Amino acid sequence: MTTDTTQATAEAVRICASEELADGGKGVRREATLGGSEVVVFFVRYDGQPYGYLNRCAHVPMELDWAEGEFFESSGLYLMCATHGAIYAPETGRCVGGPCRGGRLRPVQVEERDTPEGRAVFWLPDGELRPSKP
Ligand code: FES
Repeated sequence: MTTDTTQATAEAVRICASEELADGGKGVRREATLGGSEVVVFFVRYDGQPYGYLNRCAHVPMELDWAEGEFFESSGLYLMCATHGAIYAPETGRCVGGPCRGGRLRPVQVEERDTPEGRAVFWLPDGELRPSKP
């Protein structure tokens, strides 16, 4: 158990093995808290890079995935909100179509690192958006 978390830098949270995030494929969800509320963040891969966002549509604050972990629309090019079809650029979280226009997803910092168990995807929490304690 680490106790050296007093410094301001975020403690990285392991999300999954790198190979679990396929390009344009299923995302990985992780429970989190934001200002005392229970929320979900999610992680996807696009064009080789991992990205993470708060799972909350910029249109109405609802989760995006129509089925758990299904964030990409059928072309694998955009993240889509299942409720009214808002679409977002996966590399920026900016709304590029639908009722979210002008909005964007709240990004989270993501990093891939080599670990003794292999390469893995990590979340570097920032601000009020924190991982839920198991
Ligand atoms: S809640 Fe996402 S498009 Fe309306």
